[in-house]
Amino acid sequence: MDYPFEPYPDVASLQQAIADAFCQLAEESIASHGVFRVSLSGGSTPRRVYEMLSQRDLDWKRIHLFWGDERNVPHDHPDSNFRMVREALIDHVAIPVENVHPVPVAVDAPAAAAAEYERTLREQFQLGQTEFPHWDLVLLGMGDDAHTASLFPETDALQIQDRLFVENFVPKFDAYRYTMTYPTIAAGKNIWFMIAGASKHDALRHVLAGTDNPRVYPSQRITPTRWFVDSDASGGNA
Ligand code: 6PG
Repeated sequence: MDYPFEPYPDVASLQQAIADAFCQLAEESIASHGVFRVSLSGGSTPRRVYEMLSQRDLDWKRIHLFWGDERNVPHDHPDSNFRMVREALIDHVAIPVENVHPVPVAVDAPAAAAAEYERTLREQFQLGQTEFPHWDLVLLGMGDDAHTASLFPETDALQIQDRLFVENFVPKFDAYRYTMTYPTIAAGKNIWFMIAGASKHDALRHVLAGTDNPRVYPSQRITPTRWFVDSDASGGNA
C-alpha cells in the first residue's frame, strides 16, 4: 500500500521527530505573529513528546496550551489529559498559568463545561460567532478504533458542524468525553497525526484506503498536514 508518508522506524524516533518539529513550528509562529497556540492530544504516544518538550528551551511566555479533548473526570484523576500534560510538561517549565487553558470539567454538567470551553476559545482567539480557532498546531492521536480526539465511532459529535467544542457521550465507556468538533480541527494551520503501534495498523489501513465510512472510522474525515506514523502502525513498511 502507498502511504502519504515515510514511516519512522520506531516510536522513539517518531516522538523525537514530533518534538523537534514542535519546537521549530513554535519558534516560527512566535516570530511571525508573537504567539503559538496549540491544541494538545491525550494518550500515551504524545506523553513522551511532552516530556521531551519539558527539556527544550522554548519561549513559554508566548505559548498557549489548549486541550483537543478531555475525559469527564476531575483534573487530578489518573485518566485526566490535563493531569497527564501537567505531570509530563507543565510542572517542569516556566509557562504562565494564564497560558494554560484546561477544559473546565464538570463531571455532572458536561454540556455546561463544554459550552464554557467554547467561550474560552472564542475569547482567546477573538472569534466571531461563526468563526473557528486559527490554531497554530492541532496535535491528534488515533485510536485502534480509528477515533481521534474524542470523536468516537457512531457518536453524536461526529455530526456537529456548528459548535467549536462539545460534550460527547461514548457508549463503549458509558461516559461523556469532551472534544473538538471536525470544523474546529480543520481550522488548524498545522494538523499533525501521531500514530504508533501495531494495534493501529488495521484502523490506519481503513482510514487511508477503506471505503468512505467516517461514522465507523472517524479519522477518515481528518486531513492532516503531516503524518507521524511508525513502522508498526504502517505494517512494517519502514
Ligand atoms: C485521548 C486522546 C485519544 C488518543 C488516542 C490514541 O484522550 O485518549 O485524545 O484520541 O489520541 O486514543 O492514544 P495513544 O496515543 O495512547 O495510542
